[in-house]
Amino acid sequence: MTQWIEKIANATSLEELENLRIDTLGKKGILTLEFAKMKSVPNEEKKSFAENLNKNKTLITDALENKKIILEKEALNKKLEAEKIDVTKFNNELSCGATHPVVETMDRIIKYFQNLNFAVEEGPLVEDDFHNFEALNLPKYHPARDMQDTFYNKDYTLLRTHTSPVQIRTMLSQKTPIRMIAPGTVFRRDFDITHTPMFHQIEALVVDDADKVSFANLKHVLVEFLQHMFGDVEVRFRPSFFPFTEPSAEVDISCVFCKGEGCRVCSHTGWLEVLGCGVVDENVFKAVGYENKSGYAFGLGVERFAMLIHNIGDLRSLFESDTRLLGQFK
Ligand code: PHE
Repeated sequence: MTQWIEKIANATSLEELENLRIDTLGKKGILTLEFAKMKSVPNEEKKSFAENLNKNKTLITDALENKKIILEKEALNKKLEAEKIDVTKFNNELSCGATHPVVETMDRIIKYFQNLNFAVEEGPLVEDDFHNFEALNLPKYHPARDMQDTFYNKDYTLLRTHTSPVQIRTMLSQKTPIRMIAPGTVFRRDFDITHTPMFHQIEALVVDDADKVSFANLKHVLVEFLQHMFGDVEVRFRPSFFPFTEPSAEVDISCVFCKGEGCRVCSHTGWLEVLGCGVVDENVFKAVGYENKSGYAFGLGVERFAMLIHNIGDLRSLFESDTRLLGQFK
């Protein structure tokens, strides 16, 4: 028996202990088998035989129970140790977010113009025909009004397709001189590598008395601005058309990727188109009741700037919330 007591005392796991219980007290355990022998023991020896067996059974049972308590305690301690959490441990690698490149670019541009004394104006995202089109000299048949480009609502309101309606709202509610920018979200029915149905623009409008504001002023402000944003680039004004400006121009910078040699980003032209601008059309002043005024305006796509500054190939990746992209802007 001492041999079994010893085995029990030396058991190192609950499984081992359970096996020892089966070996001793189980159906075919040594003690059970001993008890079975009772039948064949002569009557006069039965008493001492039984006493002895019961004593051994008690010894084994006690040993098993005591050991079980010890092993269970050990197992619990092990588990507690393994699952221990040090709540005081400081995590040095705090994983914090980063400013989205579109927001960062927008903030940079806003700051630049605030430093030049431009006020920041805002307007609603849901616009009406008058502010988004009519007052901006966009005649009824203009292709920009096509269902292809504009999200129309059932009540004849629409999602603004550009930030230019803020020009109208500002002129209707303020007197000259006006010197404002309007950053904001705009919407168009378009989706490919360079278009998303929602994107951001920054509009600028400067208006003062007649002959006070010229294309030359516009040109100066834009050349300074674009060189601030893109470094030592050439700036080119290309004649263009916008209903709300006359004359109008599209503005290109020399390609920041190929430095004139021609690459895929600039379609081998050496130039990148970055914004639209012009001298405020007389019809726009008429629509807001302004007389004898002069002004210039321009509008730019913030995503386009962010993509050129950070060399991002697919506009859509800016709106996929993929932390592998965003993590690069910490
Ligand atoms: N609103 C024009 C667009 O969305 C940009 C623009 C603004 C052009 C102001 C000229 C003047 O394309």
